[in-house]
Amino acid sequence: MQLRELGSSGLLVSPICLGSMTFGTPVGEADAIRLVHEAMDLGINFVDTANVYEGYDRYLGSPGGTAEEIVGKALKDRRDYAVLATKVCAPVGLGPQDRGLSASHILRELDNSLKRLQTDYIDLYIIHWPDKHTPLETTMAALNQAVQSGKVRYIGASNHSAAQLCEMLWLADKNGWPKVVSSQIPFSFLRREFHNDLPFCEKHSIGVTPYQALQGGLLTGKYHRGESAPAHSRAAEKPAWMWEFTDEVFDRVEGMAACAAEIGVPMAQYTLAWTLAQTAMSSLVVGAKRIEQVQDAIASLDVEIPAEHYEKLDTVSPPPWQQPDPIRS
Ligand SMILES: NC(=O)c1ccc[n+]([C@@H]2O[C@H](COP(=O)([O-])OP(=O)(O)OC[C@H]3O[C@@H](n4cnc5c(N)ncnc54)[C@H](OP(=O)(O)O)[C@@H]3O)[C@@H](O)[C@H]2O)c1
Repeated sequence: MQLRELGSSGLLVSPICLGSMTFGTPVGEADAIRLVHEAMDLGINFVDTANVYEGYDRYLGSPGGTAEEIVGKALKDRRDYAVLATKVCAPVGLGPQDRGLSASHILRELDNSLKRLQTDYIDLYIIHWPDKHTPLETTMAALNQAVQSGKVRYIGASNHSAAQLCEMLWLADKNGWPKVVSSQIPFSFLRREFHNDLPFCEKHSIGVTPYQALQGGLLTGKYHRGESAPAHSRAAEKPAWMWEFTDEVFDRVEGMAACAAEIGVPMAQYTLAWTLAQTAMSSLVVGAKRIEQVQDAIASLDVEIPAEHYEKLDTVSPPPWQQPDPIRS
């Protein structure tokens, strides 16, 4: 598998990163461990988790930890072969210090993550969401402390805008702190809000690792307008995690399905190939319930999308408005 650079880190990662948000439920421990091992045997070296992941059982303020424990068991004998990412910020309890990006919460949660993951370092420590109560400088100082202690190798951001990433880069420059190397944003053919931030990431060597490129399965071709969800699918098991099946959504899903059909490629593979072809992409964080879904994701790396499809798809699911260039059009 052709690896890609993860921003300015020097790390080489597989273009598919295995997500673990469903570890616990519906992917039980034994199946999840097998999935990690099989995915790694197929060439995937990048695994994404978070302190709060515990599958479908998650509720606001629940303690989390399940997915990290499972990932820790799975990587026990292969730790050095994996680029391991985990995250901090979301609530792990109902107390005021049980969430956010204060030094107090970050440093406590980092130690908890290390214990659950059975490792003494995190390759990529990601701030999961912005925290309006904590100045970024305070957060960055805590992340610097984590890197200096050897517990963290690189830092990443998730759900942060280009303006927030810019502030992180500026603070790093100003204080001699480590730079942010990756940006994990929601990004799919149906969800293009961050589209205009991608050139910023490319220019500043921030590797983009989008999540939900398949939009929870909606862009795999298994859901159809006017039909109920197939058994054992996410829409059947956990509808709260899925988009509403509106006509407007299906207009766009069907537009992509038609393009995939035109070149005879399964829709899941086509969707991932389209996403990976966007600017600044390092690795797609993909969820999978079964190894066949991982195999599908890997097969997407061989899919070539005809150039004219990109323009066609931009009319089906347009990117956000961009400032026109007055000189070069
Ligand atoms: N940073 C953040 O805020 C954030 C937020 C959300 C997620 N994430 C990360 O992103 C990862 C992926 O998120 P996600 O699982 O919600 O989104 P996703 O990758 O868009 O959807 C994955 C789901 O789609 C279905 N699927 C996958 N491949 C398929 C295929 N080839 N054919 C048919 N169905 C297929 C499976 O569900 P079923 O088989 O059950 O239908 C699978 O669980 C998470 O595990 C997590 O690591 C990060």
